[in-house]
Amino acid sequence: MIEKVKTRQDLIDAYINFFREKKHKHIPSSSLIPENDPTVLFTTAGMHPLVPFLLGQKHPLGKRLCSVQKCIRTQDIDEVGDEVHHTFFEMLGNWSLGDYFKKEAIEFSFEFLTKVLNLPVDKLAVTCFGGDKRVQNLPVDKEGAEIWIKLGLPKERISFLEGGVFESKKNWWGPAGETGPCGPDTEIFYWKYKKPAPKSFNPDDENWVEIWNDVFMQYEKTKAGAYVTLKQKNVDTGMGVERTLAVLNGLEDNYQSSIFQPIIKEIEKMSGQKYSEKKREMRIIADHLRASVFILGDVRTIKPSNVGQGYVLRRLIRRAIRYGRLIGIKENFTSHLSKSILPIFPDYQELHTNHKFIAEQLEEEENKFNATLEKGLKKFNELGNDKLITGKEAFLLFQSYGFPIEMTQELADEKGIKIDLEEYNGEFKRHQDLSRTSSAGMFKSGLADDSEATKKLHTATHLLNEALRQVLSKDIRQKGSNITPERLRFDFNFPRKLSSEEIKKLENWINDKIKAALKVRREEIPLRDALSSGAQSEFGAKYPELVSVYTIEDKRERKGWISKEICTGPHVENTSELGNFKIIKEESSASGIRRIKAELREE
Ligand code: ALA
Repeated sequence: MIEKVKTRQDLIDAYINFFREKKHKHIPSSSLIPENDPTVLFTTAGMHPLVPFLLGQKHPLGKRLCSVQKCIRTQDIDEVGDEVHHTFFEMLGNWSLGDYFKKEAIEFSFEFLTKVLNLPVDKLAVTCFGGDKRVQNLPVDKEGAEIWIKLGLPKERISFLEGGVFESKKNWWGPAGETGPCGPDTEIFYWKYKKPAPKSFNPDDENWVEIWNDVFMQYEKTKAGAYVTLKQKNVDTGMGVERTLAVLNGLEDNYQSSIFQPIIKEIEKMSGQKYSEKKREMRIIADHLRASVFILGDVRTIKPSNVGQGYVLRRLIRRAIRYGRLIGIKENFTSHLSKSILPIFPDYQELHTNHKFIAEQLEEEENKFNATLEKGLKKFNELGNDKLITGKEAFLLFQSYGFPIEMTQELADEKGIKIDLEEYNGEFKRHQDLSRTSSAGMFKSGLADDSEATKKLHTATHLLNEALRQVLSKDIRQKGSNITPERLRFDFNFPRKLSSEEIKKLENWINDKIKAALKVRREEIPLRDALSSGAQSEFGAKYPELVSVYTIEDKRERKGWISKEICTGPHVENTSELGNFKIIKEESSASGIRRIKAELREE
C-alpha cells in the first residue's frame, strides 16, 4: 500500500494493485496502432484492443482485466496548449467481460478514489445518462445514480445529462469505430481548487475536471444504426493518468506535474525563456514531442511520411519545430529533447529498445524541415495579399516546402487569411494516389478533404454566425473559423460560457433554417455596396474592391434574408442539403473569445 500517491508510477501501481486485489488480471499496453482496424489510425482508449472480447469472444485471462494503455487522440490536437488536453496520454482501465456490472463497477471506482487516493467525497460529482427515446427506448440511468447515492454522494452532485447517443454523446461512450460495443456511462468529476466545492454540481463549470469514466457496455451499434442488446453486460472504464496526477498534487495544470516537468525544464533551458511566459508554446512542444516519441518507439515501426500514421507523426514533429523556432530555439532540438522524455517512462521497454531509431528519425525529420522551413515561411508571407491563399499555393507549400496543410491553415488563421481548401484538395488528389486504407485514415486526420462535406459545413458556419447574434448578442463577430470534413470550428467574441439552454436555442434556430429549405444566392458587387447592404465582413480582413457576397434568403423575414456575408465560398445552393446541425463543444479559446465546434449529421 502506497502511503501517499504522488508520482505517475505511484498512481499506476496503486491502480493495478487495487484491481489485482479485486481479482483482475493485468494486461500489458497494446501497440498505439490498432491491429485489424483500418478505419482508425491510433488506439484511442484502453478498450480498443478488447473489442472482440466485449462482443463475446472468450479472453484467455478471464473476465476481469485491468491495464494502463498508451493512447493517441488526434481530434484533440486543436485543444493542446490548454491545461488538460494532450494528443498522447495514458489511460488506466478496468474491465468486466460479462462478469460484474454497474453496482460493483461504481463501488470499485468510489473505493479507489476515496480509500486509496484519499480524495474527499465532498470534492466529487458525477454525471449519469439522461436517456434517449429517439432510436429506441434507451432508459435514464436511475440505477447508476442510486448506487452513487447509497455510497454517500449527495443528490445535488449528480447530474443527468440529456444528449444521448447522437449528439455530443453525453454520458454515452462508443463505439470506437463505426460499429461495435457501446453504452451509457457515468463520468466522475473532481473539484480542482483548494477552496470548497459548490454544493450542487454544474457540469458546465470548467473547474470540475473529468477524471474517470465508467461505461456500461451493454449494446452493440450495428451498421444499420440500431442498438442491439449484447449477450453479455460489460464494464469498460478509463481514467486519465495526467489529469488524475495533477489533481492528486493539487495542480490546475497537467504540465506542472512530474510527468511533464523534466520536458518543460529542458525546453526552458534550450530557449532561454520561462514557462510562465510561454505556456502555450511549451505545452505544444512538450505534448507533440512526447506523442512523436511514442509513435516512433512503437513496435509497429512508423516513420514520418505523407500518409496515414506517418503523416500525423510528421505534422506533430513539424508543428513542434515551428513552435520551437517561435520561442527562440535556433538549433535542432527534437532529438535532444527526446532524451528528457524517455526516463519518465521506464516501463515502456519499446521506447528504450528503439531509442536510437527515435533520435535518428527526429534528427532526420528536423533536418528535412529545416531545409525548407525558412524559405517556406518567406513564401507564405508573400502570399495571401488579397486575404486568400489559393489551393495551388497551399499545395506548393506542401509539396515544395513540406508544410502540412494544417500548418498552413494555422499560419493563415493567425493572419486572418483564408485558404481555398477545395482547390487544394483537387491538387492533392491529382498528385497523390492514396491507397484505400490510408485515404480512409487520412480522411479522419483531415488531409484528404471531402469537398461536399466542407461546403455544407461552410454554409452551416454562416448560419451559426447569424444565430449567435440572434440568440446571444448583436455585438458578436466572427474571430476565426476552420473547417475539416468532419466539423466546423468557429471563434467569436463573448465574455462567458454558454448555458445548455443557449446551445439548444442556437441549434434550434439553425435547424429551423435548414428545414425551411432556404436558397443560398451568390453575387459579385462592389465592396461599398456589400457593406451598406448589411453584409458581414470578417474582423480585420482586407477585401478587394469587388467582392462576392453570399445571401441566405428567407421570405419569412421582412428584409427577405437572414444572412449576408462577404465570402469567397463555396456554398451549397439550398440549406435543405445540410442535415442536422449539432454543437459538439463550446469552450474558451482566448480571453473574451469563445469557440464552438459543430457537426452536420444525417437525418
Ligand atoms: N472507453 C472509455 C473512454 O475512453 C472508458 O472514456
